[in-house]
Amino acid sequence: MKTLNINGRNETVDVDDDAKLLWVLRDELGHTGTKFGCGMALCGACTVLLDGEPVRSCITPVSAANGRKITTIEGQEHDRVGRVVQDTWVAMGVAQCGYCQAGQINTAIALLKKSPKPSEQQVREAMSGNICRCGTYTRINAAIKQASATLAGGKA
Ligand code: FES
Ligand code: FES
Repeated sequence: MKTLNINGRNETVDVDDDAKLLWVLRDELGHTGTKFGCGMALCGACTVLLDGEPVRSCITPVSAANGRKITTIEGQEHDRVGRVVQDTWVAMGVAQCGYCQAGQINTAIALLKKSPKPSEQQVREAMSGNICRCGTYTRINAAIKQASATLAGGKA
C-alpha cells in the first residue's frame, strides 16, 4: 500500500512502484481532471505538480511521488494563485474543447508562482511543452498576463 499526498489529503492505494501516476490518479483514485494525451511526455495534457514543479504524470512512476505534494487540477481551487488563474481562464474563455487545459493551467500556475511577472520569453519557455490541438495559444498567453496583473493587484 502507498500513501500519496494529493491536493493536501493523504490517499492510500495498492499499486506497483512503476505504475504511472496518471493512471493511479485517474483509474485508482478518480482524479479524472488529469488527462491522457500522448502517453510519451510529448503533449503536456497529463501535467500535474509535484512539490510545485510541473511533471508529465504519464511517464512518472508513482514511486517518484512518494513523500511529495501532488497537486492536480482538482486541488487548484484551494490555492490563491490557482483560483485566480482558473477564474481568469473562465473569464477570458480560453478553452475550446478543453482537453489540454488542465495541463495548461497547472503549468501556468507553476510559472506564476516562480515568476509572478513573467517575460514573454519565460511564458514561451514554460508553456512550450503544452500542446493545444485547438490552437488556443494566444488566449493562454493573454490569460497568463491577466492573471499575473490580477495577482499583483493591478490590471493587465
Ligand atoms: S499524456 Fe503525458 S505528455 Fe502527453
Ligand atoms: S482546447 Fe482543445 S486541445 Fe486545447
